[in-house]
Amino acid sequence: CRLQQWDSEEPVPRAELLSGVAGARGLLCLLSDRIDREVLDAAGPGLKVISTMSVGFDHLALDEIKKRGIRVGYTPDVLTDATAELSVALLLSTCRRLPEAAQQVRSGGWTTWKPLWMCGYGLSDSTVGIIGLGRIGQAVARRLKPFGVKKFLYTGSGPKPESAAEFGAEFVPLMTLAEESDFVVVTCALTPATQGMCNKDFFSRMKKTSVFVNTSRGAVVNQEDLYNALAQGQIAAAGLDVTTPEPLPTDHPLLSLSNCVILPHIGSATYATRSTMAVLAANNLLAGLRGEPMPHELKL
Ligand code: NDP
Ligand code: DGY
Repeated sequence: CRLQQWDSEEPVPRAELLSGVAGARGLLCLLSDRIDREVLDAAGPGLKVISTMSVGFDHLALDEIKKRGIRVGYTPDVLTDATAELSVALLLSTCRRLPEAAQQVRSGGWTTWKPLWMCGYGLSDSTVGIIGLGRIGQAVARRLKPFGVKKFLYTGSGPKPESAAEFGAEFVPLMTLAEESDFVVVTCALTPATQGMCNKDFFSRMKKTSVFVNTSRGAVVNQEDLYNALAQGQIAAAGLDVTTPEPLPTDHPLLSLSNCVILPHIGSATYATRSTMAVLAANNLLAGLRGEPMPHELKL
């Protein structure tokens, strides 16, 4: 192959992408690259394969890609464990207030042991609701079960009895999940149906003592509604690995709240996982260029 590479960890500037892609047969991209009609037009009719180094594909204009007969590779499975692990870490950091507590140690706020100081909420005997019981949702449930969770609820486009059996998880409508869960974990894909799904109505149904965690995509959440729910004590706390936009501006209102833990989209960020994702993305691209079956091709 002749390779033209944007050799930086920073996202390729749009103009650079548009000029660089012209005439390419294959394109390897990241989730931060929006691959839309403009990019496809700039590439021209020779573009045969797009490989994204991500499992999420909401940054790809799939209708347009399909219309042009372009094949798409992505990276499912290899990041499931790392992302589930991070989801659990974020959930525990949020419900047990770890960043806030650690900050108190540094700032001198820790004066003595006090009965109710820095109390949070535990998983033992709790009900956990999972929005999107897919690969990552199931891996999260598998990790949370040994913490003594009493009941798992889940929602999605329909019941998945085979996946749910391992956890005895019950399929419920979204609003029932909001009402009955002590912890809500969002692990669904971003689609037109899930965009803005966690909104004012959703948060108003949640318990005042419940904790919300999102490791899917920022746009699944209406952030203004989440801010109001957190600021008004409608829910106890939120942990977010994903936001809109990314990066979240440092003066964003959510960052002023002590009951909101925000991470910079690090779900899959272990050295081993990122390396495996990169190799898989390269192999998907090469297989696509050769016209062979890809290790992981997205069915369009
Ligand atoms: P899967 O395809 O295995 O799971 C996606 C889930 O989304 C499915 O269970 C699907 O449920 C669910 N879903 C679809 N529509 C709805 C809906 N309307 N309501 C509720 N759930 C719905 O993907 P993965 O588990 O591998 O990944 C999930 C997402 O996690 C990715 O798309 C990506 O956006 C995000 N991600 C984030 C990472 C991070 O770094 N924070 C790392 C990796 C992934 P059903 O089958 O019932 O339709
Ligand atoms: C993905 O793969 O979709 C994640 O968001 C990053 O690993």
